[in-house]
Amino acid sequence: MLLRVENLFLYYESERGIVRAVDGVGFELGTKETLSIVGESGSGKSSLALGLIRLPPKNTAKYAGEIFFDGLDVMKLSDEEFRKKVRLNGIAMVFQGAMNTLNPVIPIVKQVAEPLIQGFNIPKNEAHQKAVETLSYLGIKPEMASRYPHEFSGGMRQRVAIAMALVTNPKIVILDEPTSALDIITQANIMNLLKKLKNEIGTSYIFITHDLALASELADKVAIMYAGRIVENGPAEKIFNSPKHPYTQLLIESVPTLRAERVPKFIPGAPPDLINPPSGCRFHPRCPYMIKGKCEREEPRITTVDGDVRVSCWLREEM
Ligand SMILES: Nc1ncnc2c1ncn2[C@@H]1O[C@H](COP(=O)(O)OP(=O)(O)OP(=O)(O)O)[C@@H](O)[C@H]1O
Ligand code: SF4
Ligand SMILES: [Mg+2]
Repeated sequence: MLLRVENLFLYYESERGIVRAVDGVGFELGTKETLSIVGESGSGKSSLALGLIRLPPKNTAKYAGEIFFDGLDVMKLSDEEFRKKVRLNGIAMVFQGAMNTLNPVIPIVKQVAEPLIQGFNIPKNEAHQKAVETLSYLGIKPEMASRYPHEFSGGMRQRVAIAMALVTNPKIVILDEPTSALDIITQANIMNLLKKLKNEIGTSYIFITHDLALASELADKVAIMYAGRIVENGPAEKIFNSPKHPYTQLLIESVPTLRAERVPKFIPGAPPDLINPPSGCRFHPRCPYMIKGKCEREEPRITTVDGDVRVSCWLREEM
């Protein structure tokens, strides 16, 4: 297994109390696999990504767990070892909103070449050449490479952000909502580009999105996140065709379709406050199948069903 995460926690200090953004998360990712992490806004997806690349924010209250990447015990590495063995060309990340954080006064090719020069001491002209090639592979022609970010559309800037992650040939790329700020046509173009990358380069991807339909386009595996935890995790086909967790079922039923025969359902209630999450199963206040006296009291364990689907719900445990 290329990446194995166990019991990962990332809590934040805040004026109102401790925010339990990532609360005991575990999953696995194989070589050349794409895992989509899907969840509502505020469910802890970006926090999970920060935890994976050892970038807990300043106001972190708890950061713990185990991350095994390519034979390395990531949490035990020194900062220098982590930088060399993981950050440089192990796990790269395209941050949420990355296309808006490019440096406005530096030509894009220089920004893409930067990790090679800084991280690997590759001579400038060689790094420049590799940056041009990477940009070109992502659909930005060499003659455009010396332009500045403001000369590009949102979709093109997102391609630049992806190029910055890919230029060092990482084993895993984390993409945090790579298309959510884009119009639907540009979004489709970026999704097609990601599919091309997935098929042509032997990289593994962690694709973070709140959009289940988008997740289905790329994913081999899907992890459904709810209130800081993964509630269901398994092969994409099984998750989409026979979801086991009530939250996953409602998420799938809430996706609008162009066909008129099914009216999309909505999930009642609001996502929980992570400072004071509901007791027992965190989904119980919104769950149509809530077992009174049990679900609100006891936290369901993770059960394996249907061969390789991991789900935490009392209904499944009782079956
Ligand atoms: N640095 C921080 N300090 C305090 N709370 C934070 C911090 N970063 C995030 N949070 C809170 O942690 C929770 C999880 O946030 P996170 O950004 O990980 O969610 P998300 O699933 O990525 O949401 P979105 O889909 O909107 O990007 C939210 O309640 C958020 O307000
Ligand atoms: S454990 Fe209970 S409340 Fe939670 S999802 Fe299952 S049935 Fe619903
Ligand atoms: Mg986010």
